Amino acid sequence: MKIDRIHLKAPGCWINDPNGFIYYKGLYHLFYQCFPYAAKWGTMHWGHAVSRDLVSWEHCGIALFPSRYEDQNGCFSGSAVEYEGKLYLYYTGVHYDVVNPQNIHKNPNDRYESSQLMISSEDGFTFDNFKRKRVIIPPFADREPADRTHTRDPKVWRGKDAWYMVLGSRTNDDRGQLLFYRSMDLFEWKPVNRVTKESTLGWMWECPDLFRTEGGDVLMMSPMGILQDGKREANHAVCLPVEFEEHTCTLEFPDGFQFVDCGLDLYAPQTTTDENGRRIMVGWMRMPETVDGKWNGMFCIPRVVERKGGHIYFRVHPDVDRIFSRRISSAEEAGGACYKLSLDLAEGESVNIGGYRISRKEDRICTDRAEVFTGHDEWRMKTETPVIREGDHLDIYVDQNLVEIYVNNGEYVLSSVVYGLSTEIQSEAAGELLMYAEK
Ligand code: FRU
Repeated sequence: MKIDRIHLKAPGCWINDPNGFIYYKGLYHLFYQCFPYAAKWGTMHWGHAVSRDLVSWEHCGIALFPSRYEDQNGCFSGSAVEYEGKLYLYYTGVHYDVVNPQNIHKNPNDRYESSQLMISSEDGFTFDNFKRKRVIIPPFADREPADRTHTRDPKVWRGKDAWYMVLGSRTNDDRGQLLFYRSMDLFEWKPVNRVTKESTLGWMWECPDLFRTEGGDVLMMSPMGILQDGKREANHAVCLPVEFEEHTCTLEFPDGFQFVDCGLDLYAPQTTTDENGRRIMVGWMRMPETVDGKWNGMFCIPRVVERKGGHIYFRVHPDVDRIFSRRISSAEEAGGACYKLSLDLAEGESVNIGGYRISRKEDRICTDRAEVFTGHDEWRMKTETPVIREGDHLDIYVDQNLVEIYVNNGEYVLSSVVYGLSTEIQSEAAGELLMYAEK
């Protein structure tokens, strides 16, 4: 089967959200939303890849596919847990009210019912789609207790005294909300609480993920319609330092929020813990065009998530960073593979990586991809970080279709999808620019 290095990419088809990310029996398993028949979104399956080291990803084909009434039109996003040696996957099954006669793979009117399902596996590789699926939360009747259509993406975790689940949903007055459930046995789930935020943060909260870090609790989610400025996609992944009380499933929100990534493309991130207990995250990079007419969708480098005070840091996973150990002096020497650039960028300085421009203005890192993202709306070209405070350092990971900029070891990250980068690098920074490839 196909192997990807550094960035997992759609295996000749379409992929979106990462799902069921887990370290299980000595391997990282990463499932993902997948339409296996074309390089565009359609009836969702779960594709599957595994890795020993978070660097090489071996594709293992399709794990979940529609097989029953509740998931007839798609196996939407969800998560994984391990219990007594078994792997349990939780996901949302969708069933359309009406089918589009011209294209059965797309819902014609945004009306469908969503159920929450689970499936277990003895080894993480075999999934009996016909016998082992089970509905754990049937669809809601209408909009009470929550939206019959827009309730999805179960994230399950082991709490202190029980298993917990959070679902993304929307309220009757069109605000995002979270639904919390508890289970003692992973099969029977009881509602515990519903949580929303006073000020609006989009109308539907997709792919919620809630976890504890040494520095405090973090909520990560992908609200739909969070940005209304017309300058960016309306749906964007955010993270917030929160206080979560597990037994009652109550959540205290701060006033603001932080983008998971300051670029315009990362969406629907999901976290798990790595073999050393670090909290790690991957996210889907939205791509407006297919590559070579064949594939669409890729994931960012796995990032370590940390909270310090009110700020959330995303650092390159050390096991990935470690492999960039061969000093090179030109991008050609990487031979088309992903390479790394390190430099300090002072106020007013800039660097041009194969047509992708990075500059520092008023202490923000600003990017412009107009030369390597042609044919798209003007507002999708430029973006920037908030004001940076922790230094001048950039580590930039450059792959054929993705540039990831880690500012001050994860104070902010800014990632951009690109098409047709050249190998020419021009630096107007005073300091030295170091380049690394794999050994
Ligand atoms: C986020 C999302 C999820 C849903 C899945 C469907 O990108 O819309 O909410 O489960 O994608 O593919």
